[in-house]
Amino acid sequence: MNDFIIKTTNLTKQYGDQKSVSNLNMHIRKGRIYGLLGRNGAGKTTVMKMLLGLTKPTSGEVHIFGKNIYTNSKKILPRIGSLIESPGFYPNLTGTENLKLFAELRGIPNRNAIKHTLELVGLPYRDKKLFSKYSLGMKQRLAIALAVMHDPEILILDEPINGLDPIGISEVRTFIRDLCTERGKTILISSHILSEIALLADDIGIIDNGILLEEESLEELEQKNRKYIHFIVTDTAQASRVLEQDFKTNNFRVEDNNSIRLYETTIPVSKITRAFMESGAYVSEAHTCEDTLEDYFKKVTGGAGIA
Ligand SMILES: Nc1ncnc2c1ncn2[C@@H]1O[C@H](COP(=O)(O)OP(=O)(O)O)[C@@H](O)[C@H]1O
Ligand SMILES: [Mg+2]
Repeated sequence: MNDFIIKTTNLTKQYGDQKSVSNLNMHIRKGRIYGLLGRNGAGKTTVMKMLLGLTKPTSGEVHIFGKNIYTNSKKILPRIGSLIESPGFYPNLTGTENLKLFAELRGIPNRNAIKHTLELVGLPYRDKKLFSKYSLGMKQRLAIALAVMHDPEILILDEPINGLDPIGISEVRTFIRDLCTERGKTILISSHILSEIALLADDIGIIDNGILLEEESLEELEQKNRKYIHFIVTDTAQASRVLEQDFKTNNFRVEDNNSIRLYETTIPVSKITRAFMESGAYVSEAHTCEDTLEDYFKKVTGGAGIA
């Protein structure tokens, strides 16, 4: 358990008849960026709210820093910064004034913290501009500033790049990455945008219909899934048996009666083709292909893809 800074065990949230999150077992490693990827309505916000004790799970457990969050919330929550819904900033105050107010409310003593945090997110200190005049990107930066102001060890950011323009996205990405690499923070970030998660996360969890379908490092994912050999054969059942029995692999997927994808690419194609032929599964085509990440997510989520 201590290997993971955040760990959930069969975490479930049911609203009425519907399970918004179902038996979720999530593992977040210290000092890394974990990207929770899923379409709108997949359950990302619900998961994050349960991690923060904002929503009570129907069943299952959350352990953060090795302790149960529901029995240790007073100790654990101050060590976490979060951005789940837009904080209620005051429109007629400046960014600096807003942060000051929140710092007082939360008992954060250090004035430098505000200056420092604003610098970090790229907003001016003591600027005269009122919050109501802020662009969406500035509002989002201020919201992230509020989440990191007390220098938490863990950051939980729900779709922090929503509504930002491309430059804003790239800037936010850079400082999120810096928070992780330079300050050693563990960051959980959600998004429905595949390319964003692929650019930012070290580890990825794919959630669909409340179910965590996959969880792996970006590195593993790229290694494991991008290359495959596509065989068109007369008998995929027979070909599957050959792969399992002769080549001792089950790292393949039968697409239909004639098409099979082998993700294990270290075995020479000629060897497999021969074995297929000898077993009576005739091969009409075999070629090496590369999946895009998008293809991979389509495969995992069973169809429609993400974004
Ligand atoms: N308070 C609630 N009451 C009933 N259903 C909810 C509530 N909050 C979320 N849901 C449902 O749970 C599912 C997951 O929602 P959510 O966690 O917001 O997904 P995401 O953040 O991935 O878009 C959705 O079907 C949503 O309608
Ligand atoms: Mg959401």
